[in-house]
This record gives sequence, C-alpha cells and structure tokens, in this order.
Amino acid sequence: MATTFPASMELYALTGLVVVCGLYLLRDFIFSSPKPQAKETEAKLKADRPKPTRNIIEKLQQTQSKIAIFYGSQTGTAEDYATRIAKEGKQRFGLPCLVADIEAYDMDKMDEFPPDCLAIFIMATYGEGEPTDNANDFYHMLIGQDEINFSKGTATPQDKPLSHLKYAMFGLGNRTYEHFNAVAYKLDETFTKLGAQRVGELGIGDDDASLEDDFIGWKEPAWRAICEATGTAHVSAGKKTAVSNIIIVEQEAGFVDESLLHLGELHDKTASSMGGKPTYDAKYPYNAPVKVTRELFSSGDRNCIHDGNRY
Ligand SMILES: Cc1cc2nc3c(=O)[nH]c(=O)nc-3n(C[C@H](O)[C@H](O)[C@H](O)COP(=O)(O)O)c2cc1C
Repeated sequence: MATTFPASMELYALTGLVVVCGLYLLRDFIFSSPKPQAKETEAKLKADRPKPTRNIIEKLQQTQSKIAIFYGSQTGTAEDYATRIAKEGKQRFGLPCLVADIEAYDMDKMDEFPPDCLAIFIMATYGEGEPTDNANDFYHMLIGQDEINFSKGTATPQDKPLSHLKYAMFGLGNRTYEHFNAVAYKLDETFTKLGAQRVGELGIGDDDASLEDDFIGWKEPAWRAICEATGTAHVSAGKKTAVSNIIIVEQEAGFVDESLLHLGELHDKTASSMGGKPTYDAKYPYNAPVKVTRELFSSGDRNCIHDGNRY
C-alpha cells in the first residue's frame, strides 16, 4: 500500500520549491552589489557637494553669494523677512544672497568679512531688551566689551576691526516694551564704534503698529543703498529680472545607456523595405538632398548661405 503524504506537507514542499526557484531566478537582482559606475557617480556627487561649515567666509565662497543675511529670530518673523530679502535680491537684482541663522556661524570671523560683500542683519528684541536665543552668543560677544576676540586676534574699538564690513540692519520690536528694539539699536551703535559702515538707514519695525509696513518702508531705500554699495544696477520694484540657477553635472562615460541615445541617425530603411511607411522625426531625420545653394547676404567678414531641396 502506498504511503500518503499529508496534504499540508505537500503544500510546504511545493511552497519551498517555488521560493528556491524564485531566489535562483532573481539571484542577480537580489545579491548583486550596485554597479561600480553607479557607485563612482554617487561618490563623485558626494565629493562635489559643499562641506558643511561654520565659517561664513567659506560659505559665501561655496555659494558664490555677495550678501549674507543674518537673522536673530525667536518666533520666525525675522527669519521670514531674511528669506524674503534673499529672494528679492536674487530675482530683482541678480544678487546671490545667503540666508544665515546667526548661531550657525562663528561670528568672530566678521573681521575677515570680504570688502566686496555685504551683511544684512534682521534682528528681533526680546525680554528686557535681550537678543533672541540664536543671537545670544553673537550679541554678548560684541555688546559692552572693551576687548573683543576676533579671528585675527583681540581688538579694541580703537583698532576698528570691522572697517571692512558694510552692513544694513532692520530691527523687529514692539513699542509697548520698555526696551524698544534695543538689540538693533545697540548692535548698530557697536558696529559703528568698531569701524563698520552702515549702508542705508537703520530700519526699526514696530509690531504694535504695522511691522510689515515698517519693513516695506525700510526695504526700498535700503535696496537702493545696497545696490550702490555693491556696484549692482538698481531695478525699480515690480520689474523683476529672472535669474536661473543652472548646475551642470558631468556624467562619466558609460553612465547613460548608449542604445537609448539618438544623435540624429538617418532613418532606418527597414520599415520602408518591409512595405511600411517610414516616419521621420527628431530621432530619425529625413536625409533631404540639397538641390540648391543660394547666398542670402554677404557683408564684410560675414555671409549667410541657404541650402534647400526645392528650386
Ligand atoms: C515675550 C516677548 C518679549 C518681547 N520683548 C520685547 C522687547 O523687550 N523689546 C521690543 O522691542 N520688542 C519685544 N518683543 C516684540 C518682538 O521683538 C516682536 O514681536 C518681533 O516681531 C518678534 O520677532 P520674531 O518672530 O522673529 O522672533 C517681545 C515679544 C515677546 C513675545
């Protein structure tokens, strides 16, 4: 008498067989490591990516920016204004701007700030005339200090360590507070003592009235002054210059599947020889015979010739 396998055993055996066959068929896909070319390209892209830095000078170079817009913000308004200025600088004036959280950079480097660049400070005041959390270190590094440790060494106001620095400033505050816009006022006063040159008027925004109106009112004349200071052509509000950012990434040879590339090959006659109607398009252009060549004009060292296939 033949022994019978329990039905569940048969099912297990069959399932196991299917899994093994599947693994065998997909072995290349599952177990193969990424193609060396893809690995190389990934490594190259990684190497080309700018390295994170706390050095503002390096960051300006990496991003090819002319303007650094620092913000001191607690609830985001100053940060939002900084972003708007950057966008406007790029769109209206073609000025590449870097928006910078002030605590993300070592601000002792300000004595090395490039003279052909400009810094804009958008600073809110809190508490008893105190800076925002992200501006705390920078503010206390400068305010009320007889000697300041900059990257090039310790300096006093008499040394004018910031004489290279051109800056614009807008403060955010609220008039109902006793120390209205104290941070912007004090920073501006200290920068001047340290030899920096303010460009345009000090902007003072009052959240109790209309901060937005104050910002807009400051921004227009400030742009005029910033353009003048950076040697940029000023464009009136409303006339936007479109500026695109184009990044060219060169791929290694072999990165693209050559069989998918069309370089203007002539039409493959197979379709017509088999009785089909050839179709011509950008991939398979029609090889029109030149029947006539005519000179359209000739002046000095330039001329223009028309080649055609019709008389
Ligand atoms: C708790 C608190 C304290 C503030 N203290 C001051 C102050 O001392 N002086 C001042 O001018 N404004 C003061 N303000 C107003 C803020 O500076 C103002 O609302 C500003 O727009 C906030 O900017 P931010 O959103 O970028 O943080 C204070 C606001 C709050 C909420």
